Amino acid sequence: MAINPPVDATQTPAWAALQKHYDDLQAEGIDLKKWFADEPDRVEQLSFEAGDLHFDLSKNLIKPETLKLFADLAKDVKLDERVKAMVSGVHINNTEDRAVLHTALRRPVEDEGKLIVDGQDVVKDVRETLDRIYAFADKVRSGEWKGVTGKKITTVVNIGIGGSDLGPNMAYEALKPYADAGISARYISNIDPNDLAEKTKGLDPETTLFIIVSKTFTTLETLTNAREARTWLLEGLKASGAIDGSDAQRADAIKKHFVAVSTALDKVEAFGIDPANAFGFWNWVGGRYSVDSAVGTSLAVVLGPARFEEFLHGFHEIDEYFVNTPVEKNVVALLGLLNVWYRNFFNVAAHAVLPYDQYLHRFPAYLQQLTMESNGKSIRWDGTPVTTQTGEIFWGEPGTNGQHAFYQLIHQGTQLIPADFIAFVNTPNPTKDGDQDVHELFLGNYFAQTKALAFGKTADEVRAEGTPEAIVPARVFTGNKPTTSILGVALTPFALGELIALYEHITLVEGTVWGLDSYDQWGVELGKQLAKQITPAISQDDEALAAQDASTQSLIKFYREHREF
Ligand code: F6P
Repeated sequence: MAINPPVDATQTPAWAALQKHYDDLQAEGIDLKKWFADEPDRVEQLSFEAGDLHFDLSKNLIKPETLKLFADLAKDVKLDERVKAMVSGVHINNTEDRAVLHTALRRPVEDEGKLIVDGQDVVKDVRETLDRIYAFADKVRSGEWKGVTGKKITTVVNIGIGGSDLGPNMAYEALKPYADAGISARYISNIDPNDLAEKTKGLDPETTLFIIVSKTFTTLETLTNAREARTWLLEGLKASGAIDGSDAQRADAIKKHFVAVSTALDKVEAFGIDPANAFGFWNWVGGRYSVDSAVGTSLAVVLGPARFEEFLHGFHEIDEYFVNTPVEKNVVALLGLLNVWYRNFFNVAAHAVLPYDQYLHRFPAYLQQLTMESNGKSIRWDGTPVTTQTGEIFWGEPGTNGQHAFYQLIHQGTQLIPADFIAFVNTPNPTKDGDQDVHELFLGNYFAQTKALAFGKTADEVRAEGTPEAIVPARVFTGNKPTTSILGVALTPFALGELIALYEHITLVEGTVWGLDSYDQWGVELGKQLAKQITPAISQDDEALAAQDASTQSLIKFYREHREF
């Protein structure tokens, strides 16, 4: 089915109304302190629940009536049509002529037969693959799956990059308290040999299982690391006398210590991995939208199938909410529109994500690929140039570490940086420092920061503390720095699924307003091509070196002069 060209959001009545609203707010003066005083029910009007997550948007630079204007914009750009097209399998990734069906990865078994796309019973295929992954995970967890010398696997090493690494790696870190089978995971992504060298340190080849994850099974980094890992395994086993190095023993070792996840199962087999030990997914799952597909196999092993199912339920909960809630009340859609508000009307490029949970320390890195590879584009899905700024620079670190590093710029710098503050009420590690609950001490910072950012501190307040006049200006906080507070009950597999789905859909909403195909990533191709071309010039090929531009030649000459190995 052909898709309609994007609506130019900037030419819609809703955009004009938002521009007027923005101008009016600026004329009136943006003043959160005053708005809180003037609007006694502001917090109530700007608070939402989705799944078991609580959202407080009241410290953003919006008024309750702004939400209606956001909903009008969603209507004008036909968000509803785009969402329906996505979940029903229309090829909305039109530059690659693919459906975009990550929402099908978490649909329940009862939905089998309800979604037939390009002749495929999508949910049935998803559930069949999950069953195979769960059977495999159970075997590894119970010790029924044995390494070549009969030992239980104690470490799984995921080798992948981009979407084949960031999602499972982030989720493993986030859900470590649920790893209950005595199996840990490591993640190798970088082609820099340092990554593999460090991540294999201390591992015993006899108890290590590699999961090679690559949607295309052509990615240079992943295939190079997979070959290196194969060498590490076989040499290690031979050195310890576990195998004698015959072809049959080597093949047996690979069979017992390597599995793969890919959409290209023929290439997996060519690599030497038994097709029985390969888990597929489909071209309608984008790499950065794939953690809940077979790409999450390392999670199913470490956490167990039941927890992986909970993870999927969390995604599905938010999917259902997003698809079925009218935009004005739909906090997922509203957050996407809020980002557009800051990006296009306030002309803000950066967006901080600040999890107040150490377990979420890889979440900002994960979101960087999700959001920036999706919406870092200047051409719309019909091939025409965009009509406004697109994409946000997502960045962040867990609180309170960020507080002692870069929050200064958010509090008192010249740029406006909207920030998402994420925290959970309960911790798996409750502790006391004397009488003080340490998690409460931690959360005190979570609550304090958004308050300080919103309401600031006036010169009079600073003076009242006895501050010498000369340094009063340096100690003033203007306030009016926008934040969204997201508060969950506990960082469970379910809650993590909810959070990921939340940001997936935020990305879709922004992409729809901007008219982007958020599901392709042509922008990463040129660098890949040039790396292939340049690599021969580095140490041997003088002709290839001479063909480079002057700057590249000069850099490679420096390299050649200083190479010591
Ligand atoms: O960086 C480009 C990219 O294609 C990402 O979109 C993807 O997640 C990553 O490379 C890895 O690709 P693959 O899973 O095919 O190895």
